[in-house]
Amino acid sequence: MAVYRTDLQETKKSRSALLTKKHAQVAVLAWLLGLASFGVQAECTHAVACLTPSTAQTERLLSMLEHLYPTLLTDGSTLQVFPDPGGDGYFRRYGGSGAVGVGVYQGILWYSLGAGWQQFGALEAADTEFCGGTCFGTPETASAFRGNMVLGSPTKDSVRLNVYSVGQNGQVYAVYGSEPGRYSQRSATMPLKSAEGSELLLGGLRPDTRYYYRLHYRDAAGREAGLTAEYSFHTQRAAGSDFTFALQGDSHPERERSQFDGRLYARTLQTVAADRPDFYILMGDDFSVDNLDYATITKSQVVERYVLQRPYLAPLASSAPLFLVNGNHEQSARYLLNGTPDSVAVWAQNARNSLYSQPAPDAFYSGNTERVPHVGELRNYFAWTWGDALFVVIDFYWGSNVAVDNSFYDDNKRTNLWDVTLGTAQYDWLKQTLEQSTAKHKFVMAHHVLGTGRGGIELTTKFEWGGLNNDGRTNGFAANRANMPSTIHQLLVDNGVDIFFQGHDHIWVRQVRDGITYQTLSQPADPNYSLFNSSAFTSGVLIPNSGYTRVRVSERDIKVEYVRTFLPEDETPDQTSGQVAYSYTLE
Ligand SMILES: [Fe+2]
Repeated sequence: MAVYRTDLQETKKSRSALLTKKHAQVAVLAWLLGLASFGVQAECTHAVACLTPSTAQTERLLSMLEHLYPTLLTDGSTLQVFPDPGGDGYFRRYGGSGAVGVGVYQGILWYSLGAGWQQFGALEAADTEFCGGTCFGTPETASAFRGNMVLGSPTKDSVRLNVYSVGQNGQVYAVYGSEPGRYSQRSATMPLKSAEGSELLLGGLRPDTRYYYRLHYRDAAGREAGLTAEYSFHTQRAAGSDFTFALQGDSHPERERSQFDGRLYARTLQTVAADRPDFYILMGDDFSVDNLDYATITKSQVVERYVLQRPYLAPLASSAPLFLVNGNHEQSARYLLNGTPDSVAVWAQNARNSLYSQPAPDAFYSGNTERVPHVGELRNYFAWTWGDALFVVIDFYWGSNVAVDNSFYDDNKRTNLWDVTLGTAQYDWLKQTLEQSTAKHKFVMAHHVLGTGRGGIELTTKFEWGGLNNDGRTNGFAANRANMPSTIHQLLVDNGVDIFFQGHDHIWVRQVRDGITYQTLSQPADPNYSLFNSSAFTSGVLIPNSGYTRVRVSERDIKVEYVRTFLPEDETPDQTSGQVAYSYTLE
C-alpha cells in the first residue's frame, strides 16, 4: 500500500511530463476498455479547487467501472484511502496480482497497468462518461431517465422492478449488490417503450438480506443516458427476524378535494417510507374507474388510472414492493368479461399486472392458477410467508360471477349476498394455505368482508363469511355452500388467524371477534379527516382519517399502530403528522 501511495503521489508531481505522453497512454487504456478517450482537465493544484469525492462517491464510480469492464477489473481489493490536504485520494487494485489499478486523486481518474500511475481524465468527465453524471452530481437531476420505478413480488432470492416512462424509449437494466455503492450483479437489459411498464427481474439474491440497486437508462440511440439514485429492498426475512410492513385503505385519487389531496397523500407515503417497510399493501379502491361512462370508456382511460398512482407511490415503492388488493371500484371483476379483449375487467387486470408486477404462483407464492382469456394468470389472490408471518390476499370480485358491490352499469346493489363467493377453487386454496402454514402469525386481507356492505364484525355472521341468512337468525350455510366445509370466519378461527385487514369503509376501526382482530383501515389522504360510516360499527375503537397502519412483526408479537397524517396547515400541538393515534400488541 505504501508503495502505491508513493507511486501515485510521485506520479502527480511529474504530471507535466506525463501530459506529453497523455495521448499514447490514454490510447492504451482506451483500447483495453474499448472506449474513446476524453480530455484531461487543466492543472489542478492545492490553490485550485479540485473535485474531491467522498469514499461513497468513489465507490460508486469504481463500481460503475467494474460493472462496465468486468473482464479487466475483476477481483478488486478493498478501497485504499490516503489523506491529502488537497482532498483524500483513493485506489483499488484488481486481479489479485495488482497488475491493474484504478485511482481517484486530485480531481483526476488514474490508472495503473503495472508500477506507475497514469492519468485517464478529469473526474467530471469520468462521471459523465461512466455514471451519466450521477456518481458525483445530484443523482435525480443528473439522470436523463424521466420515469419512475415500482418494486413487486419480492421472494427469498428475487424481486421485480417495474420501470415506466412517458416519452422515453430505449433500454433499461439494473445493477445491484448487498453493499451500498457496490453492485456486483446486474439484471438483463430490457426494452423500455414509452408509456408501457418494463419489468426487470433482479435475481440471484440471498435470503434475509438488504440489497441496493440503481437503474441504468440507455436512450433510443443506445447511449448510456442516465443512472438513478440508489434504492434498496429486503429479501424474504428468515423466521425469527423482525420486520415492518404497512398498509393503506382506499386512496381514491379520482375524488380530488372531497376524499383526496395529493399533497397529503405524498406526505403520508413519505412518512411510510421513513419506516423502511419490507412491503406496502394497498387495500383496493386505489384505481377506481367506475366514475367513467361505461358507454364510452376506453382502455387508455383505465390504464391512466394505474399510471396516475405511480408518481405518488414510486418514492416509496422504489424501496418497498407493493401488493395490490382488488377493490369494488377497480371493476376488475368477472361479471364484466365479454369474451373479447375489450372489457373493463381485462383492461384493469392487465394494467394491474403490467404496471405493478403482482405475484403469479411459483415456488415462492401460492395463488390463482386459473388462466383467463386475454389476461392469462389473474394474479388476484396469493399468499406468501415472510419472517414468522403468513400473508394471504383474497378477492371476491373475480371469485363471484355477479357484481359484488356496485355494478358498472347501474346503481342497484344486490341484496342476496349468497351470490357473493370466493368460488370453490379460491376457498379450497385458502383452506389449504391456512392449514398447511406453520407460521406463528397469520394475516388475511380483502377489500371488505364479502367484498361489500358496511362495517366489520357486524357482517361476519352472515352468508359465506358467517353462515347465517340475511335475517341474522336462520343458518343457510349447508343449503347454499354444500361444497364448503365451514364458513370463512370459522376457517380463520380454526387456523389461528391473528388479523383480518379490510378497507372500503374509509375509517380506522379495530374490533375483535372469537380472538380475531377485524381491522378496518383508514384512507391515506382524506383532507377532511372524516369519520365515515361510523354508524355501521356497533363496537370497537373508531378513529377518523387520514393515515396508514404500521405493523411491526417479531417472533414474539405483532405491534399494530395507526399513524395519522395531516397537512402542515392542519397540524396543531395536539395533532401532528406522523403521530401514533392508537396501537395494540398481539402475542
Ligand atoms: Fe370500496
